[in-house]
Amino acid sequence: MTLDPSLIRSSFTAVQPHGPELTAYFYDHLFTHHPGVRPLFAAHLDEQRDRLWAALGALVANLENTETLVGMLQNLGRRHAGYGALAEHYPAVGDSLIAALRHFAGDAWTPAVEESWTSAYGVISSTMAAAGEGVAR
Ligand code: HEM
Repeated sequence: MTLDPSLIRSSFTAVQPHGPELTAYFYDHLFTHHPGVRPLFAAHLDEQRDRLWAALGALVANLENTETLVGMLQNLGRRHAGYGALAEHYPAVGDSLIAALRHFAGDAWTPAVEESWTSAYGVISSTMAAAGEGVAR
């Protein structure tokens, strides 16, 4: 699978005006299609939505700064171990994240864009999960 950073950036630019709706859609999709992860999250997700959106922006901005990107993902992954996130939860989140991006990207969403996001999420999730493995629970 091919990760084309320019396609990640252009599609992320296309969804910029829809941040709050996109993150709301993401959580609805996640809890409907993958209800098993719901208990990990606090009841109120308002603040959480903004943080997710900010983290995605920071990851996209640093896609080609490998050292910064890996450091960010390792920190995020270690914190997520504390939230109870296990490697097996990552595919569910990726499925819902890509569904939300697809929903709001409109014409900017193409098979090549989906392939790039799928591939990027593979890198994101494997780096986070690996860092999380090292954390005592
Ligand atoms: C692209 C991957 C992900 C990103 C960018 C992301 C981002 C974030 C951010 C920014 C926070 C706020 C707290 C912090 O910064 O530590 C957070 C919290 C959280 N995330 Fe994630 N996350 C991702 C994947 C996951 C996965 C796979 C799970 C597993 C189900 C998960 C579950 C949680 C939980 C339970 C919280 C705490 C929410 C609460 O306080 O109720 N996240 N996430």
